[in-house]
Amino acid sequence: MQHDSFLDNKYWNDLKSKSSIAGITLDEKVTPKDFELYGDRLAQRQIDMFVKSGAKDLNTLSILDIGCGMGRILKPFSRQFAKVTGVDINEKILEAAKIYTENPSNIETVQNDGRTIPFPENSFDLVYSGGVLQHIPDINVIMGYFEEGLRVLKPNGLLNFSFQVWMTSRQGGVNGDRMGAQIRATDIEDILKKTGNKLVNIYHDPKDPFPHYNVVIKKCTPSKGKENIQINSKLSGSIKPEVVTEMSVRTGIFEDLPSYQNLRMHWANGPSKKITFFKQSNTFNNYLFKIKKKLFSI
Ligand SMILES: C[S@@+](CC[C@H](N)C(=O)[O-])C[C@H]1O[C@@H](n2cnc3c(N)ncnc32)[C@H](O)[C@@H]1O
Repeated sequence: MQHDSFLDNKYWNDLKSKSSIAGITLDEKVTPKDFELYGDRLAQRQIDMFVKSGAKDLNTLSILDIGCGMGRILKPFSRQFAKVTGVDINEKILEAAKIYTENPSNIETVQNDGRTIPFPENSFDLVYSGGVLQHIPDINVIMGYFEEGLRVLKPNGLLNFSFQVWMTSRQGGVNGDRMGAQIRATDIEDILKKTGNKLVNIYHDPKDPFPHYNVVIKKCTPSKGKENIQINSKLSGSIKPEVVTEMSVRTGIFEDLPSYQNLRMHWANGPSKKITFFKQSNTFNNYLFKIKKKLFSI
């Protein structure tokens, strides 16, 4: 049977005695305090990426977090954005999110079906997803989330998806792990072509022990009506979508957190050594060529 995620209801039910934090971090040693600190820093990195990609006046913007889990990112987002919405496949984790985030009035959480976003088009200024796509074994569901994210974005809104790139299988689940299908540069290129949107930035941290890429896409649908004009002025900034920049982020995000022992071990000895990195390029086409050649080659 095709399943939507390796972190599905069965995964959470199987955790039984383990905490939701262990479910999110895949590590039972992480303490609630370190979990929160790491979440705050991770959220700030995401916000920095949105700002570097053109987002302004954050306290007027709405943001969607796909696969929000127990709200590690929702909670710090809620302090900076006007409205924060989280969707997740799992009912149990959304209950935990209500407790963890202390349920402020600007956070809404909704259970989804594991592949679609239950909101109409043009609903959000920003769409984020982190640490989710790499657990989905079906590449069509993964790319469906790119399409869904872009659909629910307002014109000129920004989508920022963060995911690991060390998977080698298109089917996922190699060696019984919880890793999903490998995402290739050509998948990103196809989505950009199919939806007519623009790649704004790709971020990575060469020292990330679990190599992640943040792909930032701008919704380029022509705007209509008053509301969209207002959003344009908030998000357009000085973006030149055809110029892609490479930046390193995340370094220093958790090394000082005592209970993130395992991550620190991976930092020293982990698979980041296998990644091939690329040099910055000025043109979109060259960049995509380099992405195809190098970015996802592990
Ligand atoms: C590793 S956790 C990350 C949670 C959160 N993004 C964070 O950074 O704390 C992955 C989350 O994705 C959710 N998830 C997995 N597959 C999903 C799918 N197909 N659709 C929606 N949510 C999914 C899981 O229930 C889980 O809460």
